[in-house]
Amino acid sequence: MDMAAKRIVHFTGGRDGEWDVTSIHAVAGATLLHCDRLAVTDTLSESDAIWSLAGAISNLRYTTSAERAGLQAKQSGLGRTEARRAALIPISKSAAWWAMAQDERLAIYARSQHTAIGMDYLPAVARRLHHSRDLEEPFDFLTWFEFAAEDEPQFDHMLVRLRASEEWTYVEREVDIRLTRTH
Ligand code: HEM
Repeated sequence: MDMAAKRIVHFTGGRDGEWDVTSIHAVAGATLLHCDRLAVTDTLSESDAIWSLAGAISNLRYTTSAERAGLQAKQSGLGRTEARRAALIPISKSAAWWAMAQDERLAIYARSQHTAIGMDYLPAVARRLHHSRDLEEPFDFLTWFEFAAEDEPQFDHMLVRLRASEEWTYVEREVDIRLTRTH
């Protein structure tokens, strides 16, 4: 699939797909059922799905133009041949988070140093954020990361830092799905 062509991306856990599922671990809230493979597609194929999640590639909400320039200068794209590992981390935030005004959410996001923490792991980790909340999906966000096997410990270190932040006190469901590319 041309990953940039369509805005809605489907992540389907089942028996098909280019990613082997190596683990599914609930960090907060209910887990997702185990499955052998994950398919990332721009159309929904229902056959043998154990679960299927959708999210939209959307506009930035919290990023300043200077931060965007910094990210663009340092980030790598999806689909690098050396990036044989991936993580799909679906996340939902609490009613208290969504009840706030945008400036209140931004203040918490900024105090949490989310972008600054994440920047420390570029370009080793490539990423894409998908918004699911307005699609009435079970999660608010589907976060997607690709990295080389030797960079997985660094990825795990980033998670420790992010999960200790003020922003994460609003995360009420988080499932950490680790994947290995099959081709
Ligand atoms: C790889 C390094 C990372 C970088 C550079 C990074 C950067 C960013 C940026 C710039 C945004 C704001 C987008 C906007 O303006 O709307 C964002 C949002 C987000 N990121 Fe990260 N991030 C990274 C890692 C992570 C990880 C590991 C997770 C999950 C475990 C994560 C979860 C999220 C979520 C859920 C949002 C949406 C927040 C919201 O809209 O409330 N990020 N990230």
